[in-house]
Order: sequence, then C-alpha cells, then structure tokens
Amino acid sequence: MAARKRASSDASTKSPAAETQQKTQTTTANSTDPPIAPSKAGQILTYSLIFFVPYFYLIFSHYKIEADLKRSILINALLSCAGFFATLTMIPVASRYVLRRNLFGYDINKKGTPQGSIKVPESLGIVIGIVFLVLAILFQYFNFTSDSNWLVEYNAALASICFMILLGFVDDVLDVPWRVKLLLPTIAALPLLMAYAGHTTIIIPKPLIPYVGLEVLDLGWIYKLYMGLLAVFCTNSINIHAGINGLEVGQTVVIASAILIHNVMQIGASTDPEYKQAHAFSIYLVQPLLATSLALLSYNWYPSSVFVGDTYTYFAGMTMAVVGILGHFSETLLIFFIPQVLNFLLSLPQLSGYIPCPRHRLPRFDPQTGLLTGTNDGTLVNLFLRQFGRMSEKSLCILLLVFQAIGCCFCFALRWFLAGWYK
Ligand code: UD1
Ligand code: MG
Repeated sequence: MAARKRASSDASTKSPAAETQQKTQTTTANSTDPPIAPSKAGQILTYSLIFFVPYFYLIFSHYKIEADLKRSILINALLSCAGFFATLTMIPVASRYVLRRNLFGYDINKKGTPQGSIKVPESLGIVIGIVFLVLAILFQYFNFTSDSNWLVEYNAALASICFMILLGFVDDVLDVPWRVKLLLPTIAALPLLMAYAGHTTIIIPKPLIPYVGLEVLDLGWIYKLYMGLLAVFCTNSINIHAGINGLEVGQTVVIASAILIHNVMQIGASTDPEYKQAHAFSIYLVQPLLATSLALLSYNWYPSSVFVGDTYTYFAGMTMAVVGILGHFSETLLIFFIPQVLNFLLSLPQLSGYIPCPRHRLPRFDPQTGLLTGTNDGTLVNLFLRQFGRMSEKSLCILLLVFQAIGCCFCFALRWFLAGWYK
C-alpha cells in the first residue's frame, strides 16, 4: 500500500520534535476527515435478488433435499445475513481507525479531479475477514453432524483462511515486494495441506481412460502440491484483476454466487451422503463470504468510499480455493475463474520480468471527459478498453462483471453438455 509506506518513510527522516509536531497535526487533520460516503446497500440488495430468488427456490422447492441439510443451510444463511448487517455497521467505524493510522490510498482512476485527492481508507478487507471468521466459527455449534472428520477439515480450512487474512494485512501495511507476495498463499495454505486426510485420487475423464489404462489415479503428494498451487493461483489472480472501483469484490460476488448454485445443483442431483456433505461444506463457507462481500461492495462500488486491500483479495481467493479443494470441484472452479486465467496469461510477460512491470498497471484517466483509455500493460482491463473503446470506470466494471457471469454460465453449459460423456 504505497500511501502508507510513503507516510512512514517521510516521518523517519524528521527530528523527534518535528515528528511529535507532525503527529499532532496528523491527529488534528484526521479528526476533521469527513466521514465516508454512505453505503449503497439498498441498490446492492435489490440487484442481489437476481441471485437469491432462484438460489432459495432451488434449495427449498426445486430439489428434494433432506430436512437436516436444509436446516443447516438455513441457519448458515441467517448467520450470514446477520454478518451482512454487522459488516455494514463496522466498515465506517474501521475506516476512521485505518485513516488515523495513515492506511489510505488515492483513487488513481480519478487523478486530476477533486475525488482523486481524497484519502480513501484502505484494507477494509480486515473487517470482512474478521466477521467471516466469527460466523464460520459460530456455525460449528449449529451444524448437526456426527462426522468429526468434517470438523477437522473445517477448522484446518479456517486456519488457512485466517493465516491468509493475517498475511494479506501484513502485505497492506508493509507493501512487500511482488515476488514475496506470490509466496504468501503457499505459507497460508500449510494448515490445510498438513491436516488434509481426504482422498488424493482423481477420476480420469472417460475419453482418456483407454490411454491412461486406469479409471482412478492416486496422485499422492502431487495432489497436495496441486492444492497449494491452486491456492496461490486463486489468491493472486483475484489480486491482479483489480484497480477499478468494485472489481475486486464484484468478481468475488459473481464467482461465489456461481459456486453456491453449483453446490445446490450437485446436492440436489446426488444420492451419495459423502458427496452431498462435501458440497454442503462449501455452502457453509461461501454463504458468509458472499454476505460479507455484498456489505463491502456497498461501500466499494463506484465511486468507492473504501478500498479492500490485499487483505480482502487474498482472503476471498483463499476461501474459494479451500472450498474448491475440499468440495472436490477444482476443475469447475477454474472454469468460473476464466477471466482471471485470461488476465493471468496476459500478465505473464510482465510478471515474469520479460517486459518491465510498473507498480500499477491501470488504464489512463482523462479528467476532462472522465473516461478511461487502455494502456499497453497486459491486463484484461486494458484489453477490454482497447477492444471496446474508451469508457467510464463504472461501465468498465459492469462490463467485466458481465463477462465474469458469462464465463460462469459457460461453465454450467459445459458441465451439462459433457455430463455422462466426460466423467
Ligand atoms: C495489483 C496489480 C496492479 C494494480 C493494483 C490495483 C499486478 C502485478 N498488480 O497490485 O497493477 O494497479 O493491483 O489494485 O497486476 N486502487 C485504485 N482504484 C481501485 C482499487 C485500487 O485506484 O478501485 C489503487 C489505490 O491507490 C489503492 C491501490 O490501488 O491504494 C491498491 O493497490 P494494491 O492492492 O496494493 O496493489 P497490488 O495488489 O500490489
Ligand atoms: Mg491488491
């Protein structure tokens, strides 16, 4: 987080007296900082009905799901709803605290306008992470299952998510170098990788069985390596598909919604209790993720009154990776991540150092027209601007989120066409 780093290094060159004076001035300045703009929760909730109505219809009417499972999902949904309102209330309070500690950023896509000089509170992902963890911990008390194995994996998953929140926050505060950032999710995934006692086998796709000679292949430790790499990919790919108001949270909301629909469809279509449990597990973690993310989006949607920080991008990526791994649907998850995969491929020349990589790879903003123009930096954001022409930040974010939703629909269509033939 550049702003905070600059603030601290400037202060370190001053004499103690000057430092005290500066601190007094900063406190005075912060106490007069205007409160953040009100949330857009009404709008966000209205639009989210597009998802919630079909989702609850599938659970409570369309599929015949056992009463116990439905009750657990409902309790989790009610807890998540409480989490939504708690997050909504906590964000303005936390914003005052982070601003007081100089944890803020300037909105780069508004540079040259009055909005571009406002200090936008950073790292509000920490609020979402904390609310999420409290919900997920409380939920264990209400989940009626005699399966203690469930609890081991659930708590290992929570430990990894918690570790990721911590490391994301460390990154926001210390602004660690780009290559170190890559390593953080590997460290955070350790609790899950070490506790994982589930199967390490993969089902070979039917068309490949004659070539491989096996229907099921045990990958052993390579499966754990794959789990670790998935965590690194999901976290970093969300973090680098960013920089436009609402994009970091928006993409998570779209993917989380698709994951929930996928899980319900799988539970509804299956008769295997273990398979259902794996997908229910995923629902129990993704519902709180979606609810808290919607609250964050209410403040982060254009024009953002808070930034989410790497705390949020890492947390969201790790949560989705964990549910993909433990729910055994990582291939489907990767198809939901199509825009992130494309953005990653476009970024490779700059990430590998083949082409110089600036600190921010954002479009160019024209304060006169308020429109963004694509630069040559290899990102999906810039590619969309080059393909579809100049547009406002809000339109670009909507377009990218529609693309994300189309990717998810494509995944559902692909699963439907390949059902029975592929696996
Ligand atoms: C990643 C990207 C970087 C992109 C940045 C934006 C790579 C290798 N890194 O870096 O290119 O510029 O995310 O988040 O692809 N900001 C805005 N508007 C927003 C969101 C963020 O202007 O809607 C700016 C703010 O100044 C904020 C800063 O981005 O303080 C946060 O950047 P940070 O998350 O620290 O960047 P990285 O994750 O390191
Ligand atoms: Mg970031």
